[in-house]
Amino acid sequence: MAIDPLVFMNTLVNRFDFTKEDKDILKSNADWGLEIAAEMADHFYAYLGRDEEMNAILNQTEGRIHRLRETFVHWFHEMFTGIDDWGAGYSQRRWQIGIVHVKVGIQPQHIIPAMATVVNEVGKKLKTEGKSEELKNALSKICMIDLAFIEQSYIEVSTNAVLKETGWSATLFKRLVTHGAESM
Ligand code: HEM
Repeated sequence: MAIDPLVFMNTLVNRFDFTKEDKDILKSNADWGLEIAAEMADHFYAYLGRDEEMNAILNQTEGRIHRLRETFVHWFHEMFTGIDDWGAGYSQRRWQIGIVHVKVGIQPQHIIPAMATVVNEVGKKLKTEGKSEELKNALSKICMIDLAFIEQSYIEVSTNAVLKETGWSATLFKRLVTHGAESM
């Protein structure tokens, strides 16, 4: 593993300014998060199902969509509980979620609009239920932190695979990528 998930988490916490107040408001709304999780899962999988490519992936194996609905509910609720105060356990879990998507072959171009759907749908729900702007901001931040984990795992996994297969150094690989980008 090239990155330490907890170090990465702490970097993101600083970058997004995910504060103690954000954590407190999420924790105090954890029951509400669990209550609306199934409804959010409905929106999420309805969205994915409307895309031919993603729909095929979702239904590729027996029972996958059913399993996914359950994992979504857990994932959604964990954004509110923070598992271990958004520490090593939370970071490891987010890193694993990223790896699963790389293994299944789902590209970043699918992940970003999928997370946008979550942010959008939860935003509507917050509004209809009269929830605070502070909760909305805290949720947006943690959604973006989770998104950053999934996105980063692509580059980590691909880079590691190339380095392992070729024996190249990370510096050489970086130089080749930079040169490749220059010629595009
Ligand atoms: C906001 C973005 C997303 C989140 C938060 C998310 C969440 C999750 C979670 C929590 C898991 C379980 C990971 C584990 O087993 O440890 C998972 C697996 C999976 N996700 Fe996602 N997902 C996202 C985007 C997508 C997209 C765009 C697709 C496209 C179809 C997708 C398809 C899958 C598949 C196929 C699996 C593996 C299911 C299996 O175990 O067979 N996900 N996802």
